[in-house]
Amino acid sequence: MCGIFGIVTAKETALGPILVEAGRRLSYRGYDSVGCATLSPGGTIDLRKDVGKIDEVAERLRFGEMRGTRGIVQLRWATFGAPSQANAQPHLDSDGDLVGAHNGNVVNNVELRERFIAEGMTVRSTNDGETCVHAVERYVDQGYPMLEAIRRAHGDLQGDYAFVIGRVGEERLYAFKKGSGLVAGIADGAALVSSDLPSILPFTRRVLRVEDGEIVVLEPGGIELRRVEDGARVEREFEVVSETMEDAQRGGYPHFMLKEIHEQPGRARELLHLYDASPHVEAMVERMKGARNLYLVGCGTSYHACLLGATYLARLAGRPAIPVLAPQFVPQYVPALGPGDVGLFVSQSGETKDVLLALEAGVARGLEPLGLLNVIGSTLMYKTRAYLPLACGYEISVPATKTFMNQALAFLYLALKMGGHSTADLHRIPELLEETIVATDPAIFPLVDGLAGCDDLYCLGYGLTYPIALEGALKMKEVTYAHCEGMLSTEFKHGPLSAVTEGYPVIFVCGPEDVARVVSGVNEVTCRGGRAIAIGEEDPRLRANAHDLIVLPKAGPLLNPLLAVVPLQLLAYRLSVARGYDPDFPRNLSKTLTVD
Ligand code: G6P
Repeated sequence: MCGIFGIVTAKETALGPILVEAGRRLSYRGYDSVGCATLSPGGTIDLRKDVGKIDEVAERLRFGEMRGTRGIVQLRWATFGAPSQANAQPHLDSDGDLVGAHNGNVVNNVELRERFIAEGMTVRSTNDGETCVHAVERYVDQGYPMLEAIRRAHGDLQGDYAFVIGRVGEERLYAFKKGSGLVAGIADGAALVSSDLPSILPFTRRVLRVEDGEIVVLEPGGIELRRVEDGARVEREFEVVSETMEDAQRGGYPHFMLKEIHEQPGRARELLHLYDASPHVEAMVERMKGARNLYLVGCGTSYHACLLGATYLARLAGRPAIPVLAPQFVPQYVPALGPGDVGLFVSQSGETKDVLLALEAGVARGLEPLGLLNVIGSTLMYKTRAYLPLACGYEISVPATKTFMNQALAFLYLALKMGGHSTADLHRIPELLEETIVATDPAIFPLVDGLAGCDDLYCLGYGLTYPIALEGALKMKEVTYAHCEGMLSTEFKHGPLSAVTEGYPVIFVCGPEDVARVVSGVNEVTCRGGRAIAIGEEDPRLRANAHDLIVLPKAGPLLNPLLAVVPLQLLAYRLSVARGYDPDFPRNLSKTLTVD
């Protein structure tokens, strides 16, 4: 998803390298084009942008030589307008006096563009970021000072987005947000603003989280917050953040995805320590226990954790819960919501628009919103009545790995607590995860050659491993671009079995309780010439019937799903690399989907 960064310095500086570095830190969100603009004290704007990856575009367009006292970098993930040079951001206004960039979506883009064209403005692209710039231009041309023009433009632009803009002849940048995240920071000789904390952290830890309805004004000497409503000053203390940059660097691993897979034992350990010590867990359990209906709502990987969570809650606490994909929550359940209903909204980023919209629709009908999230300070955090953190640090790679692990673990923890069981056994998990990585990664290598050329496969699970099969298939789709369908193993015979021909690969994720059932499925595939790859604890029946068995440490049915996802993550990663793709930033995908 798009990301923005802006900087104002006290004296003219070589801003190019700073903007490139900030852009790199935004790149984990996924993007297809990149652009930089600098404003010099002499009153000129240097704007360079194009389709491509940041390092390649920066070299080709020589971003490194850009200088000025103000700079903006934007990474664009196409929503409105195809990826193209014209649609890349930042954008100029008609006369080239204003330059701005946004992330997120302006939903009345088309109407506004038509209006601006009819009014005689020079509109060069179909991108909604340009619409934001013209929206300000309109009022500047009517003689309003910048702050006033922005306040008025704010009222015209509908959607969820964050926007930064500068004007020649001034020493300021202005930014505001609606829905999306925006953080400002103050460093020695520089004021900064960004959609993402990691791009600010190398400069400072003193930050201000900008809220909806506020405009942040960045000046050489500081930062000022103004209310959109009446332009009045907002007083807010800077907060000093404790996040480190360690998480945002690869630390010797060739890819963030591999690093994050390897971080899972450590992150699981941290989550357990945190939950053991936190009074918030008990409070969360009480809220969930008292619910009339309990909905578990998420998208993508987070939804798979909800599915697993529902099974844990039923099995360990006798608590029925309804897992649902966020956009489907609205048509399927919101009309039936009533007093006492509780929604647990699960999201790594805390910014997924589908999740936030589901929450808002639920809250409007009296739903109590709870959260399970990784990004502290995210929009979801502020919208929930209570939340639990996932304690994973930054997850940079687009495919979620360590956050899925801790979502699954959090659900298991909550289910055990709710059922009045001890959570002591969970402390075996970090070590079991370490063992799983060590044991399964070498076992995967022999599979890679055979599967690397394969564009179509299935990943099946049953009961507790059903969500794991879905998650494994999603990982595979995300990073290998192969079609991998995840489904309930028992459903395979009701249709997809027809796809099986000689050598057709089908992965079976098998819990220790389900071996007999899975062995039937395995044979349905092998007797038709298919290749059955089983993932499960050592078992003579699996060994005898499947072509390949990836052996998991013995952990029992409840912990097994947490281990079983690891070889699937590793297999997806290794296949992605073997096929020549970048698993961290798969084409067309974005880490944080703040659009419909
Ligand atoms: C995007 C990401 C997925 C992620 C989903 C939900 O589609 O590419 O990896 O699972 O969003 O994200 P969330 O931040 O809400 O967990």
